[in-house]
Amino acid sequence: MSALANQKILLGVTGGIAVYKSAMLLRALLEAGAEVRVAMTAAAQTFVTPLTFQALSGRPIHTELLDPAAEAAMGHIELARWADLILIAPVSADFMARLSVGMANDLLSAICLATTAPIALAPAMNRQMWLNPATQENVQRLTARGLLIWGPAEGVQACGESGPGRMLEPEALLDQVSAHFAGGALAGVKVVLTAGSTREPIDPVRFISNRSSGKMGFALAAALRRLGAEVVLVAGPVALATPAGVQRIDVETAQEMQLAVSEQLAGCDIFVGVAAVADYRPREIAQQKIKKQQTVMTLELERNPDILADVAAAEDPPFTVGFAAETQNVKAYAEEKRRAKRIDLIAANRVAAAEGGFERDENALTLLWEGGGESLPMMLKSELAARLAARIAERYHARTQQENS
Ligand code: C5P
Repeated sequence: MSALANQKILLGVTGGIAVYKSAMLLRALLEAGAEVRVAMTAAAQTFVTPLTFQALSGRPIHTELLDPAAEAAMGHIELARWADLILIAPVSADFMARLSVGMANDLLSAICLATTAPIALAPAMNRQMWLNPATQENVQRLTARGLLIWGPAEGVQACGESGPGRMLEPEALLDQVSAHFAGGALAGVKVVLTAGSTREPIDPVRFISNRSSGKMGFALAAALRRLGAEVVLVAGPVALATPAGVQRIDVETAQEMQLAVSEQLAGCDIFVGVAAVADYRPREIAQQKIKKQQTVMTLELERNPDILADVAAAEDPPFTVGFAAETQNVKAYAEEKRRAKRIDLIAANRVAAAEGGFERDENALTLLWEGGGESLPMMLKSELAARLAARIAERYHARTQQENS
């Protein structure tokens, strides 16, 4: 039976172009067996009329706070009590701001104030609005209050810009809701994850680094968190917001990253190395800025620790996941790497030009584990992360079961 069977979900819809997607979400929730009622704000109704939602749900849509007839049928307090989960998709920046200060000046905000049910928000807005400190402060405040923030995803936006702010796709939200009612596939599991690049200083102003943006790692941290895991994200220097509910430790060099990881290994069940760790660092760091003198200059480099291989080689290692960026023979090289580093699961991708990988919003992955594999086609990194997180959870539980039998 679906985890959603007979669960009562109040779908809140606020103003934004993503409203058309919540009609599809409504259908998906109903098909999964949930009982759904819909409350729309006035702004939402300017994008799609309540009739669409009414036709899909077969029920009247709740729109008014002070309407005697509506209140007599099922009032806001009753709706607030009825729901097992309130899911607001899309939630606008404005609605989050109103929620964060506890306003109740329309039906949906009044329901949110009157409920004891969990509230999940699926933000959708222009990337600048999402990244604005005012919105981020509201997100933090709402997260601290226990509201669940699902998304947003990154990618092309209706306004023509690209970045964080897209509402999660209806299927991804359905996964979230299912995981919520199932208790989360990784509830009680501690995950340590590295992401981004590292910087290896040459002198006070220069360093060696690489093109890793950290997008895949951050998306995966968020996806694992959504499955209920306690996630510690050890991040190299990146320009990304910390995913909701994730504990972040910032580092610069590979050695700092290794130290941060080792300090987090106690009680760690799953380790995921997404970071593009610099393989070498300058043997010596000049104390002063190096002046240009000779036509040729030689830098002596020494090997950095292999953080992932070291974690996998520990006495009682966690379930280990690594990435392999290859330009050719992806599968063969990745399998070789998986065996050489003795890791449980490897996610490999081609990094040839125009095929995803570093700095892009999309990617495709080939997953390999002992005795199996899966090919994930080109898709948004946020969606890819959700698929990979689900596979990590499944393989982790398979290994734990094997160890216990
Ligand atoms: O050997 P290669 O760098 O291709 O392996 C990539 C995988 O190993 C990634 O999962 C990366 O996070 C991890 N790695 C690491 N420490 C290094 C190099 C790579 O954890 N020094």
